[in-house]
Amino acid sequence: MKLFLNDCKNMRKYIVAGNWKMNTTVPEGVELAKAVLAASAAVPADVKLIVATPFTHLCPVAAVVGGTRIGLSAENCADKEKGAYTGEVSAAMLASAGCQYTILGHSERRQYYGETDEKLVEKTRLALANGLDVILCVGENLEEREAGRHFAVCESQIKNVLYNFTAEDMKHIIVAYEPVWAIGTGKTATAEQAEEIHAFIRKTIAEKFGEQVADDTTILYGGSCKPSNAKELFAQKDIDGGLIGGAALKADDFIGIALSF
Ligand code: PGA
Repeated sequence: MKLFLNDCKNMRKYIVAGNWKMNTTVPEGVELAKAVLAASAAVPADVKLIVATPFTHLCPVAAVVGGTRIGLSAENCADKEKGAYTGEVSAAMLASAGCQYTILGHSERRQYYGETDEKLVEKTRLALANGLDVILCVGENLEEREAGRHFAVCESQIKNVLYNFTAEDMKHIIVAYEPVWAIGTGKTATAEQAEEIHAFIRKTIAEKFGEQVADDTTILYGGSCKPSNAKELFAQKDIDGGLIGGAALKADDFIGIALSF
């Protein structure tokens, strides 16, 4: 089992995070959080579980998971501190709602909502300043993969955002590699495809921050991860868990994935 093979030379955490996206009503979300909490007893204590919910769900879900082993994350936050930005939700608001994490730079936000690397630097800065840990998503789309540009795309996303931060900040940043062509498509990257990018992302982090920081950084895989393929993915040296979309909407599947280390 991977957990017990960790030689403790690094501080890397094993994490399974559920990204609920724009799914569930508030009562449904509360029920899902309760079901995840109830099923979580089977998961080894070294695996960190996180649920990332829509903004409307954060307070009621915080009431369910607060003080338990399950972390609470938002799916996005504003790139401004506060003020006249109708419809936006700030990092300070998220922290006050009971969040410990926020996802940033998910490909759906990059694709549909004009999220740029420049905005992500601001969002990351504000999240960290407000005590939130960041789950930063990177990944290439199908066209980029087919053109053989997947390494270059991930490298520029990592450099454009993370190279603006410090080694100390990196203790609060988790990276999620999510090939866009694998998200919600049922098409998973093979363990080999995922591992080669994870290793490359770790190398890119090492170039700026050194080997130790790179070794300590948790890098998650996301994209059609499910109980049937999680084991093979998580067995890879540089894959430290998953960011789970569709399969996070069923507590049994989500926990099944968390049992795959
Ligand atoms: P998926 O989504 O597991 O439904 O492919 C993953 C994600 O977008 O985080």
